Amino acid sequence: MIDEKVKQYSEELKRLGIEHKIFEHPQLLTVEEVQSYLGKTVKDACATLIMKADDHFVAVVRRGDIKLDFEKLKKLLGVSNLRLASGEEFTKVTNNPVGTAKVYNHGIKTYLEKSIFEKDYLNGGSGSLTVTIGYKVADLKKIPGSELIDVSQKEIQAVTGGKIKGRKRILSGITPSGDGTLHIGNYLGAVKQFIEFAKTHDCFLMVADLHALTTIQNKEQLQKNTETLIVNELALLGDLTNIVFFRQSDVPLHAELQTILNNVTPLGLIKRAHAYKDKLAKDTNEEEINMGLFNYPVLMAADILLYKPDLVPVGRDQKQHVEITRDIAERFNKAYKREVFPLPESYIPEEVAVILGTDGKRKMSKSLGNIISIFEDENIIRKQVMKTYTDPTRIHASDPGHIEGNMVFTYLEYFGNRTEFENLKKLYREGKIADVEAKDYLLKGLMETFQQARERYQELSSNPQKVKKILSNGAEKARDFAASTMKEIREAIGLTNKYSFFKY
Ligand code: ADP
Ligand code: TRP
Repeated sequence: MIDEKVKQYSEELKRLGIEHKIFEHPQLLTVEEVQSYLGKTVKDACATLIMKADDHFVAVVRRGDIKLDFEKLKKLLGVSNLRLASGEEFTKVTNNPVGTAKVYNHGIKTYLEKSIFEKDYLNGGSGSLTVTIGYKVADLKKIPGSELIDVSQKEIQAVTGGKIKGRKRILSGITPSGDGTLHIGNYLGAVKQFIEFAKTHDCFLMVADLHALTTIQNKEQLQKNTETLIVNELALLGDLTNIVFFRQSDVPLHAELQTILNNVTPLGLIKRAHAYKDKLAKDTNEEEINMGLFNYPVLMAADILLYKPDLVPVGRDQKQHVEITRDIAERFNKAYKREVFPLPESYIPEEVAVILGTDGKRKMSKSLGNIISIFEDENIIRKQVMKTYTDPTRIHASDPGHIEGNMVFTYLEYFGNRTEFENLKKLYREGKIADVEAKDYLLKGLMETFQQARERYQELSSNPQKVKKILSNGAEKARDFAASTMKEIREAIGLTNKYSFFKY
């Protein structure tokens, strides 16, 4: 039996032109239970939250699996207090039992959270515990006075990790100190790991442009390097699910935290850092070393600690900086007798710690001219592949070849089809294929591996607005996170006091 009140509500929906279906079911307590009875999940449900905003009530329709960002909603509504209505308030304003909120309630403004529109139909409250209504989502815009809002916390929640048990957070940075182009060494040694991490971790990845100032004091060069690096990275990463990609200078809190951390950092600790020591060894003149370079590890500590990551994936050369970060974090926690900073671990992917260059001798590095590019013209990549070091003892294609130390085969491990690769190795060892055939095969593998990335590269390069949007989204999420850590820090060290008003 359908309750009279539900019938009236259904009539009202019809008058408004809101298409809907009525489902009857036993009295069930939670949305999950109702949905599973109806063969659906919470993702196919919309839950209306009745909330008290300062002195009035509002209804916010959200998708069952989406959490709301209350702070953002508060700002949007222009109120200073916002909370869920109590049970008593709920029944008073809706005239329905708790847990049955309808999407449309007389006298209450309805806000429609954007994520509901990702579905065509959603099940929602009817005002009765034994009836659920399947709403045609597009029609909900017809609710009088309704307003569309974007206050989902889906990604924030994913990246802050706090609520998702067992998900670890990682953070890494890349300095646009080179020209910003990435080669297959960068891909295998860094980007690929990051993509793997993003499947199971919440990731922050920053383009550390403030770090680049230590060596680049030329406006155009910094601009160009940073732009190039951003597009290269984005093209390689592709899907940014679970990745907050941002530019360091878009989150000025990094510089703020550096200033604070300076005060718990012993001079000796920084004097022992490689960046400074190596430079000193090279130039043997302190006049040549700027304070930015000297203090680089403290800025890096700030980069890391703001996001309280569990792991910091870095190249081997950066391991010491992560150790310095741990040291600084410990000193801070000790000085202020509070565990503000969890100690991060560095993570160096062992199996591909260093990719040798096409010369087969030294680490692949742009400055050594021994790279294989990712986004260059195919002709250029072909040249790079063709000059790759193979087996110097092999004079003729019919000579048995060596795989060990042969860079073509080293790269093929990563860019070839497994079975074909094994077969190719066998043929090569038996002297049945020429170097050039193996190289052609490598080129094909590279082109296939990076085909999508190369397409994305073209698209992003010709669409600056798109890149800007990605960066501004990332910066906003990073800032939210960093601000909450900074608030904690300001409080812990005594910057806040009874006259404080500052807000990020
Ligand atoms: P470099 O380490 O040569 O200065 P970058 O600073 O551009 O190069 O490196 C960016 C990331 O790519 C770092 O994590 C670095 O460890 C990694 N990387 C660079 N070159 C290689 C390589 N040849 N093999 C493995 N990883 C590399
Ligand atoms: N210093 C790192 C490098 O040159 C880049 C970087 C800056 C970084 N901030 C970071 C890496 C924070 C890890 C975490 O490679």
